Amino acid sequence: GFDEVPGRYKVRSLALAEAGRHQIRLAEHEMPGLMALREEYGEAQPLAGARIAGSLHMTVQTAVLIETLVALGAQVRWASCNIFSTQDEAAAAVVVGPHGTPEDPRGVPVFAWKGETLEEYWDCTEQILVWPGEESETRGPNLILDDGGDATMLVHLGLQYERAGVVPPDTLPGEPDHTHEMNVVRGVLRRALEADPLRWTTIAQGIGGVTEETTTGVHRLYHLAESGELLFPAINVNDSVTKSKFDNKYGIRHSLPDGINRATDILIGGKVAFVAGYGDVGKGAAEAFRGQGARVIVSEVDPICALQAAMDGFQVARIEDVLGEADFFITTTGNKDVIRVEHMVAMKDKAVVGNIGHFDNEIDMAGLAAVPGVVKTEIKPQVHEWTFPAGVGPDGVERSERSIIVLSEGRLLNLGNATGHPSFVMSNSFSNQVIGQLELFEDMKRPEGERRYERQVYRLPKVLDEKVARLHLDALGVRLTELSPEQAAYIGVPVEGPFKPDHYRY
Ligand code: NAI
Repeated sequence: GFDEVPGRYKVRSLALAEAGRHQIRLAEHEMPGLMALREEYGEAQPLAGARIAGSLHMTVQTAVLIETLVALGAQVRWASCNIFSTQDEAAAAVVVGPHGTPEDPRGVPVFAWKGETLEEYWDCTEQILVWPGEESETRGPNLILDDGGDATMLVHLGLQYERAGVVPPDTLPGEPDHTHEMNVVRGVLRRALEADPLRWTTIAQGIGGVTEETTTGVHRLYHLAESGELLFPAINVNDSVTKSKFDNKYGIRHSLPDGINRATDILIGGKVAFVAGYGDVGKGAAEAFRGQGARVIVSEVDPICALQAAMDGFQVARIEDVLGEADFFITTTGNKDVIRVEHMVAMKDKAVVGNIGHFDNEIDMAGLAAVPGVVKTEIKPQVHEWTFPAGVGPDGVERSERSIIVLSEGRLLNLGNATGHPSFVMSNSFSNQVIGQLELFEDMKRPEGERRYERQVYRLPKVLDEKVARLHLDALGVRLTELSPEQAAYIGVPVEGPFKPDHYRY
């Protein structure tokens, strides 16, 4: 069952709100950046008039983000950006709000629960983009806060279809390569088009910009900007240093083993772990496995990252050469078809397979389900054993019966099997989100000719990146050294920063 008021909210149960509120209260203590922004801007209400549609994992940490946006004056509607990542108690607490009760909810409209179907997922995404009532002429948001780009894509695709006057059955450029999922999206758009042939045109007109959380969503935005299709300015939050070099790396270092432990409780120490990709997420993953005492093997396509992995002491190999060796296989590439059927059938018996890249196409789940005779057994939600029968496999090799354990059906396991990154690291990421929303909303208020942001993708200035870091130092007892004016002049930077040129890579 659900608790729902159509157009207002749809969550698992508002009775969970109290439990969620306790967790939010503790998370606030661990999110000094967001709380400092509330302090700094609470009175001025710089987001008054902002209508923010948020599509980002509906966790406890996200609840603190949402309530920070509200504290700065924004109206908000929210959905999760993954079918398994919602924490139902957090969703309930946000709907009820700090001053409401389950009988009299006064918080923010949320459309999210753990374990959505794809149809439900895209319905929820549509719900955040369609604003009922009199709040806006366009009946839509004026800002998007996105993670992975699904909300942004729905607007772009809806508009494309609307202009064409049809929802074609085939794939358009820029669409993700998930055939089944795209059919679901087209279903949502077809219904929208039938209900209101100008829905997306009006919604798109009202949107002044998007801030994007993750690597994969940022890739999609640059792609849209390059082809000239981007409808509004975008801020790339991911590539703030205080986001990707912290959340992607140290967040994963915490939440990957958390997910594996909650899902399997298999000892990691002494085992062999294979990590595909050695970008920011891969670096955090490899370090986490090493920290648990595993022997780690990394794969890479980029010679620079491969060399980094080698210099960090990891074996660098191809997946096909270590199939019988590794106990854990984790993908972190943001690419597709990284673990394929021919790999999975040749893995060690009871190998654990999971993904922490944004989309589930890193692991060929459809191919796995199509292996002749394969049996899927649910061990518990988001943990499945896939048993291959004895005999000749699809790769022509004869083997005895064996099975592999797949986490979260190939979707982000740190959010599906655990609760995602912890608060402190998300405070860094989300402080960048709030600052990005403030930047875009300020700019929208300027007269047309005086705006700073065009239909391009921008990063936040370094001085704001350094500000986010600064907001997190006290909580860790960090005492920063100050430059003397002579030292500052000697290295050519202002005493108060920014301390590095934009091309510095950290
Ligand atoms: P990145 O670009 O820094 O790293 C990805 C790496 O994978 C690159 O070094 C690339 O060369 C490598 N790669 C690409 N194709 C490969 C292949 N076929 N085999 C081996 N390596 C390959 O990106 P980042 O920031 O590490 O993000 C990776 C993914 O994780 C993205 O989808 C991102 O959205 C997602 N992400 C997930 C988080 C989570 O909580 N689960 C948190 C942050 C990001």
